[in-house]
Amino acid sequence: MNDESSPSDGVFSVRSRRASRQAIGFLMQQGIENRSCLSLAAGFVDESSLPLAECLEAATSVLSNTSRGRGALQYGTTQGDEGFRNSLLAHLARLEGRTVEQLGIGADRLVVTTGSQQLLALVADALFDPGDICLVAMPTYFVFLGVLDGVGARTIGVEADENGMRMDALAATLADLEQRGELDRVKLIYLVTDFENPSGACLADDRRSEVLRLAQQYSRRNPIYILEDAAYRELRYDGPSIPSIWSRPGGDERVILAMTFSKSFSPGVRTGFGVLPRPLMTPVCNLKGNLDFGSSQWNQALLTHVLKSGAYVAHLEQVKASYRTKRDALLRAADEFLADIPGVSWLRPEGGLYVWLSLPEHIETGFASPLFHTATRQHGVMYVPGELCYPTVNGQSRAHQMRLSFGVLPPDNLREGIRRLSGAIRDVLKSAEA
Ligand SMILES: Cc1ncc(COP(=O)(O)O)c(C=O)c1O
Repeated sequence: MNDESSPSDGVFSVRSRRASRQAIGFLMQQGIENRSCLSLAAGFVDESSLPLAECLEAATSVLSNTSRGRGALQYGTTQGDEGFRNSLLAHLARLEGRTVEQLGIGADRLVVTTGSQQLLALVADALFDPGDICLVAMPTYFVFLGVLDGVGARTIGVEADENGMRMDALAATLADLEQRGELDRVKLIYLVTDFENPSGACLADDRRSEVLRLAQQYSRRNPIYILEDAAYRELRYDGPSIPSIWSRPGGDERVILAMTFSKSFSPGVRTGFGVLPRPLMTPVCNLKGNLDFGSSQWNQALLTHVLKSGAYVAHLEQVKASYRTKRDALLRAADEFLADIPGVSWLRPEGGLYVWLSLPEHIETGFASPLFHTATRQHGVMYVPGELCYPTVNGQSRAHQMRLSFGVLPPDNLREGIRRLSGAIRDVLKSAEA
């Protein structure tokens, strides 16, 4: 990972040099160098449940209608196809358990993006000047930490537990920033509300209302926005769903709701969307115009078709059944192979793709640690080091955790992966004791 001040790359912008520090590239390289490894690291989705038949049917239908077909193969608008945005409103209403009218917004408040990742980057670009502050849960989605780094934002971590970001800790952080005269630099609170990547935690119902209240209470000259990243929202395997922060009274003015079809349908269609507070629509669309003046019309047409035909909802049920089986396989294997190791614990997620594992505090998991080396080189298993998911400032990082993902491997391999991981942890614990 490059040093920002390296003289050899002085021709490149500060922004490009900041981007070169991404951990994701290193992680993917590790995957390539250790091909015999079972990867509990990969964030890809399950291959076997990708919607081939649904996409074939949708493509045939779109192309057999001349005007729809031509529309799908033409340029569109920066904000996204209007028909698609109307389908998105119906989709959102279904998720919120409301009618479209009850949502209280029109399609003009939606922007279609190239994956939800693009929306996250656009929001960061629209809000942050260098030195502005973003508050995030510890741990959180490490790719967004890279985005924040890229725009020069200061990222401050807030303690979280199995119910997501702790509101007493958020209130204390905001009060502290107020005392230091820095409240006006706080632009955003970022939350992965459902089955957080990496922890699997779901932000509790009462905390969703409280975060909105705190954002309102501490907004002074500038509003403090909440970025509600609901990437895994539709992958719930147990328990009742929790209404979004966005849907609560006042949420519409304060919350940017980021949604995606990557996890529920296909990441290859690279389509997500945002519901934005009115003042953010123009800045976000202007920035997107500079990038691509509109996401793929073709992919929007495919999704419009599957949303309207019902194929999307039917497929989602299959996807969830497959992930539920995998999650259960990983958790069973953890009970079998890890439960007797002192100081090892993990969260049991009700959805999403990840299990968050903690080791005794003196056992580090990072790329340079004995455990990472032993796991990848001797036991043939790979994971995502937990420290990547913490902001790097103020020593907030923690080095004894890891993210295990159950999205890609079949159940038998998940069990074998955990068996290997258990071997690696036992080896490292033994040498730490020696
Ligand atoms: C929490 C979270 N948000 C957003 C994204 C971006 O996904 P996409 O751009 O495919 O919608 C991901 C991808 O893994 C994620 O884990």
